[in-house]
Amino acid sequence: MIRSVVRGTGQALPRRIMKNADFEGMVETSDEWIAQRTGIRQRHIASDDETTASLGEGAARAALTDAGLTADDIDLIVLATSTPNNTFPATAVEIQQRLGMRHGYAFDMQAVCSGFVYAVTTADAYIRAGLARRVLVIGSETFSRILDWNDRSTCVLFGDGAGALVLEATEVAGTIADRGVLAASLRSDGSHKEKLYVDGGPSTTGTVGHLRMEGREVFKHAVGMITDVIEATFSQAGITADDLDWFVPHQANKRIIDASAKKLGIAEEKVVITVDKHGNTSAASVPLALSIAAADGRIKRGDLVLLEAMGGGFTWGAVLIRW
Ligand code: ACO
Repeated sequence: MIRSVVRGTGQALPRRIMKNADFEGMVETSDEWIAQRTGIRQRHIASDDETTASLGEGAARAALTDAGLTADDIDLIVLATSTPNNTFPATAVEIQQRLGMRHGYAFDMQAVCSGFVYAVTTADAYIRAGLARRVLVIGSETFSRILDWNDRSTCVLFGDGAGALVLEATEVAGTIADRGVLAASLRSDGSHKEKLYVDGGPSTTGTVGHLRMEGREVFKHAVGMITDVIEATFSQAGITADDLDWFVPHQANKRIIDASAKKLGIAEEKVVITVDKHGNTSAASVPLALSIAAADGRIKRGDLVLLEAMGGGFTWGAVLIRW
């Protein structure tokens, strides 16, 4: 059977780093409050010349180099983002053009912080259906452009960045020992819209709008939703938490990550944490964390890696990959 095997990863971050203390003159907050409640210590913020497309291009180029491939070898780009360069065309198509690709096809996916998990699952389905052979799956965001910089309850939480994976169609035996995407579970429920949304859009206000969040409400739902999709993924694959080598969760809040890992019985040393350095980069957070842990040698070929995310909508999901 055909599975989607990871061939390479890459990432790109804006040049500018903003530390927690840098907020102290802007809104009533402190390094201590932010670090204690979220685990965040710094985040990268895009300068005027850095966009979702340019960061996505950077991550894509790094992933292609890691894979030993060029853009000529790719036939599909799926970009997870909620902060596109323009309402249309899709930013994925702009990245395609920036990579010099005149063949294949490209589209954006919008599932907020769950975007990358949705995009990997979609790319895997396209590969298994024979609609693509090699896919660049990118998560790229510039949430700094949709933040209300006067709202201390949200502006301290988010950052900008991009990460990418190259997935490749590979003939395998069809067992749990195979490399590639092994199982996935996706969910959404629009009844939670008001808890996390952007208060603008082309068809409503005609403006871009700002992110609004009832943080405590999101927190309350997060752990239960995350553990549900992870348990569904475990049962699809016939594994338990003990079989995992790495847990790469969405990097929104260290307290949510710790509580989810504890509830699932995933050992602390198997959890990849980058929220301290990047803040919440929405759809970019999982591929950023993945590419960092793959580049520094933690995630190795053959390792069983679990990805998870939860975000606006609500949307949530999990994907199990043998590296
Ligand atoms: N600095 C200082 N005080 C603050 C700040 C700040 N930056 N922000 C809020 N406060 C205050 C509040 O006003 C409140 O004060 P009050 O008690 O006088 O009313 C107090 O701190 C406590 O506020 P809570 O909201 O109860 O704080 P909580 O412990 O819940 O932490 C947080 C807030 C960090 C936002 C947390 O709720 C959280 O992480 N929620 C989940 C967010 C998340 O995971 N989102 C993921 C999805 S993101 C996506 O999809 C785009």
